[in-house]
Amino acid sequence: MAFDLYRAVSFWLRRLDPETAHNVSLWALRQGLGPRTRQADDKILQQRLWGRSFPNPVGLSAGFDKNARVIGPMLDLGFGFVEIGSVTPRPQSGNPKPRLFRLPRDEAVINRLGFNNDGIRAVAQRLEDWRATGQPGVVGVNLGKNKDSADAAADYVAGAEEFERLADYLVVNVSSPNTPGLRALQGREELDDLLAHIQIAVGEVSQEDRPPLLFKIAPDLTEQDKEDIAAVAMERKIDGIIISNTTVSRPDGLHGAARQEGGGLSGKPLTPLANQVLADIYRLTGGEMPLIGVGGIASDTDAYAKIRAGASLVQLYTALIYQGPGLVSRIKKGLAERLRADGFKNVSEAVGADLK
Ligand SMILES: Cc1cc2nc3c(=O)[nH]c(=O)nc-3n(C[C@H](O)[C@H](O)[C@H](O)COP(=O)(O)O)c2cc1C
Repeated sequence: MAFDLYRAVSFWLRRLDPETAHNVSLWALRQGLGPRTRQADDKILQQRLWGRSFPNPVGLSAGFDKNARVIGPMLDLGFGFVEIGSVTPRPQSGNPKPRLFRLPRDEAVINRLGFNNDGIRAVAQRLEDWRATGQPGVVGVNLGKNKDSADAAADYVAGAEEFERLADYLVVNVSSPNTPGLRALQGREELDDLLAHIQIAVGEVSQEDRPPLLFKIAPDLTEQDKEDIAAVAMERKIDGIIISNTTVSRPDGLHGAARQEGGGLSGKPLTPLANQVLADIYRLTGGEMPLIGVGGIASDTDAYAKIRAGASLVQLYTALIYQGPGLVSRIKKGLAERLRADGFKNVSEAVGADLK
């Protein structure tokens, strides 16, 4: 029933320009028109990390719900957790339109939105209002910096302070390709310095209340970059790394007419690149650090491959545009079957299985 409704609606959504289609989808979800497929998950999918319980390991990745408007409806689709943002201290409108492009034959998207968002105060208020409803759900907050800000660390600290008591985890996003200079924060000294500032800020909250601190990296990294990132994460005892954001590369074989548009590419063509970085960081951190695998997940096979390559949790965004909300239940069902078929009792046992 819900799936048929989606089929009918998606026919029209695909005829709209992608950003309008996204806004219409958010509006419909806010009106309660989304399917409610949230039901008790198969126990084999349960995951426990950072003292938090995830009913399943499949999350909504940052950028879909930048402004915390559809947390409840996205959890109702069956996601095990939702990451809101990226959110910057001050509201900003992002880059000029058009800035979002579909590559349908490639099941990919290129975006150069540039952190359009309502700013930390408005978004924190919405998260607070949602928390006040008492609904269960793990919600992470992805932090960015304003385009015109000269002090990146101060922006992330402001975000961390705004959300430290509201977020189940915080993400320092140093990997969006659409904010000039942002990716340079992945350099060894820059990253170390930035994380030190944020750790001091969140460390001022009592140890029990302190949210786990993660950062999110790009897939476009040299071997040296990866070694540096892993070393900094371990030295700083970071709680986890999200791998990866969109790529500025354009893998061979893209069909979409929009393939030369500037911005970050996501979806299927990103998969090999993101999986390679995931496996490399898993190895470089000795399998000790929780990793969230994201980039090109469009099926249970893709999700399982990321877990076996070292991901304790996974996330997706682009495939939702092409396959609609039924995708989440399909992935969960297939994942549970695969875990059982391979003799695993839970997700944790399968993490990094291909690299052991
Ligand atoms: C339209 C769009 C907007 C995005 N905005 C953000 C963002 O604000 N912050 C962020 O960390 N990642 C953002 N991302 C990246 C996704 O969270 C994800 O890392 C990437 O798209 C790869 O996953 P996918 O192939 O499943 O989409 C965005 C992606 C898309 C397609």
